[in-house]
Amino acid sequence: MKGFFLTLEGLDGSGKTTQARLLAQFLEGKGIGVRLTHEPGGGLKGVRDLLLKGKTLSPEAEYLLFSADRAEHVRKVILPALEEGHWVISDRYLDSSLAYQGYGRGLSLSWLLEVAKEVTLGLKPHLTLLLDLPPEEALRRVTAPDRLEGEGLDFFRRVRQGYLELAQAEPERFLIVDAARPVEEVGAAIRSGIQRLLP
Ligand code: TYD
Repeated sequence: MKGFFLTLEGLDGSGKTTQARLLAQFLEGKGIGVRLTHEPGGGLKGVRDLLLKGKTLSPEAEYLLFSADRAEHVRKVILPALEEGHWVISDRYLDSSLAYQGYGRGLSLSWLLEVAKEVTLGLKPHLTLLLDLPPEEALRRVTAPDRLEGEGLDFFRRVRQGYLELAQAEPERFLIVDAARPVEEVGAAIRSGIQRLLP
């Protein structure tokens, strides 16, 4: 595989989408080919509405819908772009499921990982930026909550704790960035964190 696979993770309101865009612009300015993409919806467009607007959905169905989107995303978007030598920047990927459906909803991590092996074809990010934010601050930043964002503080606390445990388990893959700072400072921290990876 020729490209580089980078993911952004974090609670809703952590500024992932803004930082993904800024990072893509920065890399493009250096002449690097970038494919900016996101989950949910990067593979199957219709899945977002099912997941975020529906009223009741079992955690298992929720995970399998995210996974259906991810299976398409990996095969049709991420792998082809990596094959072309691009940097793929994905706003959320498998760690979102581990944090939200695993730690947040309480599904077993071993089942999630077993399914994920086939879904992702074993594709792991080279680097994951975790935009870390206290759950209270994350909730304050969410103005029009969707189904998951409406879960409240305890849910957000479990998800954040999950992300931190995932990062602790794989320190070589994760870079934790304090996302409670102004956008420009977070962007600068990200740029300095990836400097060593640039060609
Ligand atoms: P989000 O990145 O917030 O999309 P947007 O900013 O466009 O609304 O993602 C939507 C929600 O989906 C978010 O609350 C996190 C959740 N999510 C999961 O619970 N599991 C997953 O595997 C993914 C990809 C997202």
